[in-house]
Amino acid sequence: MCGIVAYAGPKSVHSVLLVGLTRLEYRGYDSAGIATIDKGELEVRKEKGKIKELEDLLKLYPIEGPAGIGHTRWATHGQPSKGNAHPHTDCKNRMALVHNGIIENHHILRNELTAKGHLFHTDTDTEVIPHLIEEEWKKTGDLKEAIRTSVVRLEGRYSFCLVHDEFPDTVFFARDGSPLVFGQGAGETFLASDILAVIPQAKEQFIIENGQWGWINKDGMHLFDADGTEVTFETTKITMQVSELDKGGYEHFMLKEIYEQPDMLRRIIERRMDEKGKIRFDEMEMSNDFFGRVGRILVTSAGTSWHAGMVGKIYLERFARVATEVDISSEFRYRNPIAEGDTLVMAISQSGETADTLAGVHEAKAKFCRVLSLVNRTESTIAHESDAHIDLMAGPEIGVASTKAYTAQIMHLLFFSLMMSGVRWLTEKEDREEMFQEIRMIPAKIEAILEKADEIKEMAKQFKTTKDFVFLGRHFNHPTALEGALKLKEVSYIHASGYAGGEFKHGPIALITDEVPVVCLAPKTEIYEKMVSNIEEVRSRKGKILSIVTEGDETVPAMSDFCFTIPNCPDYLTPILSVIPLQLLAYYVALERGCEPDQPRNLAKSVTVE
Ligand code: G6P
Repeated sequence: MCGIVAYAGPKSVHSVLLVGLTRLEYRGYDSAGIATIDKGELEVRKEKGKIKELEDLLKLYPIEGPAGIGHTRWATHGQPSKGNAHPHTDCKNRMALVHNGIIENHHILRNELTAKGHLFHTDTDTEVIPHLIEEEWKKTGDLKEAIRTSVVRLEGRYSFCLVHDEFPDTVFFARDGSPLVFGQGAGETFLASDILAVIPQAKEQFIIENGQWGWINKDGMHLFDADGTEVTFETTKITMQVSELDKGGYEHFMLKEIYEQPDMLRRIIERRMDEKGKIRFDEMEMSNDFFGRVGRILVTSAGTSWHAGMVGKIYLERFARVATEVDISSEFRYRNPIAEGDTLVMAISQSGETADTLAGVHEAKAKFCRVLSLVNRTESTIAHESDAHIDLMAGPEIGVASTKAYTAQIMHLLFFSLMMSGVRWLTEKEDREEMFQEIRMIPAKIEAILEKADEIKEMAKQFKTTKDFVFLGRHFNHPTALEGALKLKEVSYIHASGYAGGEFKHGPIALITDEVPVVCLAPKTEIYEKMVSNIEEVRSRKGKILSIVTEGDETVPAMSDFCFTIPNCPDYLTPILSVIPLQLLAYYVALERGCEPDQPRNLAKSVTVE
């Protein structure tokens, strides 16, 4: 949700910024822009649309300079347009600023500044910041002091970077709420919403904390706290590899990430389960003693992570026998959840930056609950603000539609539930050993599914003009139905809804005609027979049945227009296998319809506004 990047150093500043922005495009692609101080003059280039449009503009009108800032936008205030694109400037056109977040009191500030003679040219909340700094600057003539006194007036969440013509080789910045990380290279420095924008040039990183501000030049960073005291900081080595950020020969990141799931799960299994069948979460600083005492778990998460949380609830209740509730993050914080001292709040987030989920973490802490987060980015704000975190180990996920992070979340929730059941002496050694055997076989079973991807590719051809889809599943695969529908909506723009199989007859079945494909998740589990009845109900209304079944099943295939088989596995592992064909379905239907699966319209991968 908006990405910002800044650079100070000897390289071509616009090239460094363009690479950084391309890496941050998952955060929004409504418009893009950069600014530098080129031979003493502030220069801004911006364009509506993707980074490619900005790149074309820069070929015609290049800019350089010893430092610069860049932005890729997901519009919140003001429609996507060239005018509303960042960077934004002050009245005298001496400074330019890029911002990620929302300034909630922008109306008040805009009125106040307009009354003082400032002219505004955009509909954005961001534009108040350069004008406010300009106004404060008039008072002291000291830009640094003006930044410090201005940020005190900003309400909401922000991280911003700024260039000013008086300091051509310097980028100023401040952070409160939205992510910002400093990267140190050899004779060059960077700032970015996400460190993946600036590797491999940046070798070391430091995560700027809320309330901190300062500036960078090619030699390093000066960092201050809110009252203006300079603070010392220690950088850490960046371990992410640049090879993790390319498509690796695949046409899209989404497809690459779908295919990465077997190896990713192998890595997870290897790290989480030791040879003796013990479950390890080395990075999680919470005692077994505490897990023994947990009386209730509240899970808060959004989108795909919410669906994973729903599977987690079933695991936690079945294996660890802990009462668990799962909430959509944006609802959790407003329902004043009842939480006592023995309540554990679990925040699940791929990015670790989702504003709604972060707000839930704050809500939980205000109620004195312990917070454990499951995040794919361990340097993220949610990880930082939780009492402990678990690394999801999915590796960078670039495709906007989440795929591998989902199966990583489910696998970790399973391990976490088994760890808790161990602490509480709830499972027999033999049962656990059997489960571990089954878990170890999952990566190869996903490979077997992926080998049959062409079946889905072929089947997808018939949905080029389909308008509605329904997904049905029960128990462990109710969340799979919701996730399958979400994937299809996200990347192919077909209206799709997921329902619990048993609930479907209580209303939504009215939707069924012979034009509505119904994806039925019917792997062999203890509620298989019930699912068969639900499929019958749809079939007798002439719905088109596309089923996902376990190998060897003869009943459901005979009732289906199309059938895809997945390998046999225990019921609790079916959500990991059955989602794979649904990810492929969404991907191939998107291609059939000429949609760009990696960057669906209106979406951003990391939603840092509420
Ligand atoms: C956005 C993305 C979804 C994602 C959700 C939660 O809406 O488009 O794909 O599932 O945020 O993101 P998180 O990073 O918290 O898992």
